[in-house]
Amino acid sequence: MRIDLTGRRALVTGASRGIGAAIARALVDAGAEVFAGYRERADVPHGTPFRCDHASPSLPPGPLHLLINNAGIWIPTRIDGPEWDDNWRTVLDTNLLGVARLCRLFAKQGGPGGAIVNVSSRASHRGEAGYSAYAASKAGMNALTKSLATELGPRGIRVNAVAPGWVRTDMSAEALAANPRPEPVPLGRIGEPEDVAGPVLFLCSDLARYVTGVVLDVCGGAYLH
Ligand SMILES: NC(=O)c1ccc[n+]([C@@H]2O[C@H](COP(=O)([O-])OP(=O)(O)OC[C@H]3O[C@@H](n4cnc5c(N)ncnc54)[C@H](OP(=O)(O)O)[C@@H]3O)[C@@H](O)[C@H]2O)c1
Repeated sequence: MRIDLTGRRALVTGASRGIGAAIARALVDAGAEVFAGYRERADVPHGTPFRCDHASPSLPPGPLHLLINNAGIWIPTRIDGPEWDDNWRTVLDTNLLGVARLCRLFAKQGGPGGAIVNVSSRASHRGEAGYSAYAASKAGMNALTKSLATELGPRGIRVNAVAPGWVRTDMSAEALAANPRPEPVPLGRIGEPEDVAGPVLFLCSDLARYVTGVVLDVCGGAYLH
């Protein structure tokens, strides 16, 4: 069965590169009208550029059926590290509060058949040494996902998340250069952005019409629980 999103309008945040760009491409290929959210880099590879900074986000004018909250940052907050307080605030504001702001805007205008997909992280389940604020922000995102699934389900809006493991992007480049095989992966390799885009496409589609409130692991089996 082919996924056909013709007639659906979508916003993908952080679509200038990495996982967001792959998600935007998958949605465009499925026939959706895609607004590719960017913060600084307006030269987005897929979709129509739309400036959307998590600090003060807005939605494109007109009806919006799909919201993919992908943008995020990964900065260290080691317990004895520098600028600890500022970094915690920045991470929570970007990865959690920014996403909640967008969900709120979407809920105000979205109707039956709408769907939100949040890009969480495996760190949300198991924590991450040196990156406690990041892990906490993504665990908060999982709780936000489940809360809004319950709250918006009666209005016909589904809310789900994906939790990727290591994926080859700018975000992970330095860490993977230092350690190319950070952990055993049963499927035998590090993830690529397209590996995440597929499950997101599924969650956006009518194939997932009875799925809400889930956090779908996309990590090649590297974390099982
Ligand atoms: N890569 C991994 O291994 C991995 C693993 C698990 C989860 N994830 C999650 O996957 C998502 C995408 O990660 P990625 O690896 O593709 O990252 P990336 O290559 O670093 O790209 C991050 C994207 O987020 C945007 N962004 C950052 N801060 C923003 C803000 N305040 N407002 C709006 N946009 C902002 C960036 O826009 P600009 O280009 O304008 O800076 C960029 O498009 C993130 O939520 C990340 O936590 C990644």
